[in-house]
Amino acid sequence: MAQGQRGLRNSTDNHHKLSAKFPVDPAFSRKQKIAEHRKSLPIASVEKRLGDEVRNNDTLIIVGETGSGKTTQLPQFLFNAGFCGDGKTIGITQPRRVAAVTVAKRVAEECGVELGQRVGYSIRFEDVTSFSTRIKYMTDGLLLREALLDPYLSRYSVIIVDEAHERTVHTDVLLGLLKNVQKARSKCFNDRLNIEKKKENNGTLSDKDNGIFLKQCQGRKFPPLKLIIMSASLDARGFSEYFGGARAVHIQGRQFPVDIFYTHHAEPDYVDATLITILQIHLEERPGDILVFLTGQEEIESVERLVKERLQQLPEGRRKLLAAPIFSALPSEKQMRVFAPAPAGFRKVILATNIAETSVTIPGIRYVIDPGFVKARSYDPVKGMESLIIVPTSKAQALQRSGRAGREGPGKCFRLYPESEFEKLEDSTKPEIKRCNLANVILQLKALGVDDILGFDFMEKPSRASIVKSLEQLFLLGALTDECKLSDPVGHQMAQLPLDPIYARALILASQFNCLEEMLITVAMLSVESIFYAPREKLEEARTAMKCFSCPEGDHLTLVNVYRASNEFLEKRTVGLSKEKNEKILRKWCKENFINSRSLRHARDVHSQIRGNVEQMGLRLASCGDDMLQFCRCLAASFFLNAALKQPEGTYRALASGQVVQIHPSSVLFRAKPECIVFNELVQTNHKYIRNITKIDYLWGKENRELAFWVSGCPCHGYDIVELL
Ligand code: CDP
Ligand code: MG
Repeated sequence: MAQGQRGLRNSTDNHHKLSAKFPVDPAFSRKQKIAEHRKSLPIASVEKRLGDEVRNNDTLIIVGETGSGKTTQLPQFLFNAGFCGDGKTIGITQPRRVAAVTVAKRVAEECGVELGQRVGYSIRFEDVTSFSTRIKYMTDGLLLREALLDPYLSRYSVIIVDEAHERTVHTDVLLGLLKNVQKARSKCFNDRLNIEKKKENNGTLSDKDNGIFLKQCQGRKFPPLKLIIMSASLDARGFSEYFGGARAVHIQGRQFPVDIFYTHHAEPDYVDATLITILQIHLEERPGDILVFLTGQEEIESVERLVKERLQQLPEGRRKLLAAPIFSALPSEKQMRVFAPAPAGFRKVILATNIAETSVTIPGIRYVIDPGFVKARSYDPVKGMESLIIVPTSKAQALQRSGRAGREGPGKCFRLYPESEFEKLEDSTKPEIKRCNLANVILQLKALGVDDILGFDFMEKPSRASIVKSLEQLFLLGALTDECKLSDPVGHQMAQLPLDPIYARALILASQFNCLEEMLITVAMLSVESIFYAPREKLEEARTAMKCFSCPEGDHLTLVNVYRASNEFLEKRTVGLSKEKNEKILRKWCKENFINSRSLRHARDVHSQIRGNVEQMGLRLASCGDDMLQFCRCLAASFFLNAALKQPEGTYRALASGQVVQIHPSSVLFRAKPECIVFNELVQTNHKYIRNITKIDYLWGKENRELAFWVSGCPCHGYDIVELL
């Protein structure tokens, strides 16, 4: 419109002059581009039909190839079709934080509204919604938490479970829960209709009906819940059967041919092979962006640095390659960078975790590099041990990845392994619920009133052994009573905290033993990826820098030192400065101290969120000052399931699992090798490394009771653990 008016007022034959004098408003042209893009999506032609399908079916399964417009368009279609009447909201769950954030931003822009108003998102530690939010993107874990406060999920008219094929543990639990919520809401709705009919016919109600009416229906004036399960994989049968033969519809996508290339031999170092392939494509192939699948933040950041270094070795004219990372912990404003087109003449290389497999679609990709690995959770229910391991992808994942190269035109995919290896891959990935510790999920289900965990209607049941092991762990942490009910207050408090049960326990204990301030920092710092970074070429410098923070008790208090040092620095140096200046100065400080500034910033955000949580719960926030022992005891009493004893040859034996493990070289205790330690995580590469370690003393508990000793030694733990194990 604005442009049309200009055209009228400045009517001239010379269009070039006109546009030079009155350049097209960039915001207007972007709006127009977005509108055109929306219209061109495969899903656009079936808007009306989809609305009808949702109206006619309480549960609907939608299958559509990645990039067809499911995530960004369907909620808008439903909003336009009137599914948000009566102030109700459409909720869309995503397995990943990054997807929830980037998609919400995109959709807010498409709708021309401010983010957090009609369109918003909510993820753990970050809520960008308001009273007027009608389209709400969130993580599946977050919706589970909402159900704790509102068991009928009454603010939602429609819930869309997106990326259901990923089968994360939260998605699986959510599906079971939503099935129940849907039934309960339909029952309420029908009861209400029946009673209202009776009232109309008889004029009055019997005492019984009146009772039901008051008890069941009042204050719950919600319509039945519409449930939509969206998936990128073509196999909808499993979901349909689980929902009693629910209707499934398919949205046709657009896919151009993709040439697949394999290596002749297995690559000994896939990071190096990735780097070589990136540069080869950049130097030899036609224009088009590159998408690389890596396993995590650390790997992505190291490839990002290496790409920059290698570019410096090229002639000036050939350096036009921009690296753009995307992973969960990346601050949200930076996540959007991958979607922006590269400047003219430049090629973009996007370094992504498997988030870019189906959750987010990045435009402009013509080349995919797939080293063939993914970081996955793995759980051994016998040993009660969960670890993150790097494993080969499944065939389904490899196909999804290569498909990303053929969205806008013919593309190429470089698999960095021999073709014979592809044939050996599993067809599809095992649902996460079958390979993770269930303590967190069980705690939440219990808080939701689901006591019979073994009888819960899971789409695929986790093994009995892993349920029992997780129940045991919760019992040991003091969250469950002898009857396996949530304990009061500890179990209920633990369920309220959006944290791993061990962390939740640590915070509650710390509040009783005057060290919550230190524990809060610890938990925040442990909730983000690696705080320290040590580039290969500056290893010694990085080690020296780390020593300034290092605490002889271990890594946890070392992390506390880093956090406090950053605070002190900020307090001294940034009085009266703008937020941007503030951040710039902090980034410089981080660089000088070999600290990962992204991780530290994320930890600061997490800290302020959990602080809000514990304050709300009325936990006492105090510092132990110089009494480190108090802190270490609390750590031992909550991390006792991850305790290890030194072996004669210098390795460690994890007490709960019996596994032989080694201290990771990045730990401040790597050389000191104390007798007895607790650790945070087990990372399996060629070795079984434990990371984030604190020295403890087994005399803190009764002797020879292995697992029990420091637990029962902690004054607040009353259970006899040995009998249980
Ligand atoms: O969910 P599905 O994979 O079917 O597609 P989508 O995520 O809704 O994406 C539809 C289109 O929007 C794709 O062409 C994306 O490239 C585009 N999109 C974008 O340009 N920027 C975003 N932040 C998200 C999506
Ligand atoms: Mg999607």
